[in-house]
Amino acid sequence: MPDFTKTILITGGAGFIGSHVVRLFIRKYPHYRIVNLDALTYAGNLENLKDVEQEPGYHFEKADITNEEELNSLFARYTFDAIIHLAAESHVDRSIMDPLAFVKTNVLGTANLLNVARKHWKNDMNKKRFYHVSTDEVYGSLGEEGFFTESTPYDPRSPYSASKASSDHFVMAYYHTYHMPVVMSNCSNNYGSHHFPEKLIPLMINNIKNGRPLPVYGKGENVRDWLWVEDHARAIDVIFHEGKNGEKYNVGGFNEWKNIDIVHLLCDIMDKKLGREKGESARLIHYVTDRPGHDLRYAIDATKLNKELGWKPSLQFEEGLEKTVDWYLGNQEWVNHVTSGDYQHYYQDQYAIR
Ligand code: NAD
Ligand code: DAU
Repeated sequence: MPDFTKTILITGGAGFIGSHVVRLFIRKYPHYRIVNLDALTYAGNLENLKDVEQEPGYHFEKADITNEEELNSLFARYTFDAIIHLAAESHVDRSIMDPLAFVKTNVLGTANLLNVARKHWKNDMNKKRFYHVSTDEVYGSLGEEGFFTESTPYDPRSPYSASKASSDHFVMAYYHTYHMPVVMSNCSNNYGSHHFPEKLIPLMINNIKNGRPLPVYGKGENVRDWLWVEDHARAIDVIFHEGKNGEKYNVGGFNEWKNIDIVHLLCDIMDKKLGREKGESARLIHYVTDRPGHDLRYAIDATKLNKELGWKPSLQFEEGLEKTVDWYLGNQEWVNHVTSGDYQHYYQDQYAIR
């Protein structure tokens, strides 16, 4: 058994981004003990970590961040040097259906985690680090011009983004009030493998494959700034190790796309891969009722992270999208598992009205 130099608690490690962060840390830092805390909600899936679960530094703990007793018992069993906090309810459409679930996990859960950490770390707080992973959605919606910087005022407009904004404020409150060494990042839309097929890109890939309608909200003109999930994991690595306490860092792909253009690009890629005639998949596109309060445009200015910590995205979008499609086509069993059961009910409720 190696001597571990650090024990890091990663919350939400069984989810989309969390599993990429766990994988990166386990592979790059074999001398760290990584404790993956996850409640295994519909979005958490231990299959995402099959390739690293046997590594000596990897531990899994099923627990809920809203449960104080469960967290206390974990903090008593492990001496955590740091926390990377990703656990959250993450889907905007679900937040519109059930806002209080987002208040519970994202606001109360984060406050609970901060508070338990504060109590257990009180004697050596300055040696610790609490890294909070947040989103660009806290900044609200842009018009056709401009970018979100770290000093853009918060203006959340969905229950999801309001809950994330609130959690960000709690993190900064613990920095100022209790001198907890915190660092935070606000990232744009991620894409890549292991992305739950309720989100735009994996949902479209799955529906194209199965010849099902492709539900484009409104006119499809909303813009998102897409980042390869492994580039986000690399950003989290660099910010975790080199970011300054009390600071936040924007992370983004410098890669803005209208939704409808992404859907067309996916249709073209998949026509080729599935041996369909060009244009066949695009005939599945359906414009449906818009998402209420749909933010028009997100665009991140990630200059600070680039200038201060040297990070930049590594992959071109077209190449990343093709790799993503390949992953989904090659992992049909994973897709079948995550789209059985609860997913069917969610899909019916979300799209029947549209
Ligand atoms: P995800 O929904 O794929 O995964 C969330 C994980 O958290 C799941 O494994 C789930 O089981 C776990 N979880 C949920 N509630 C929990 C609870 N009460 N206790 C313990 N675990 C719980 O989310 P994601 O897309 O990987 O996002 C991870 C983080 O990154 C979130 O905080 C999200 O706000 C943020 N983020 C996401 C994106 C994106 O494009 N997906 C972009 C920027 C920031
Ligand atoms: O910007 C970062 C955020 O990106 C993260 O904080 C969130 O956790 C993550 O879910 C994502 O939020 P979005 O709402 O931008 O992602 P989503 O994939 O749900 O939608 C992307 C765009 O596509 C958005 O404009 C809505 C549209 N859309 C989405 C779905 C699911 C459709 O047109 N049709 C769909 O079926």
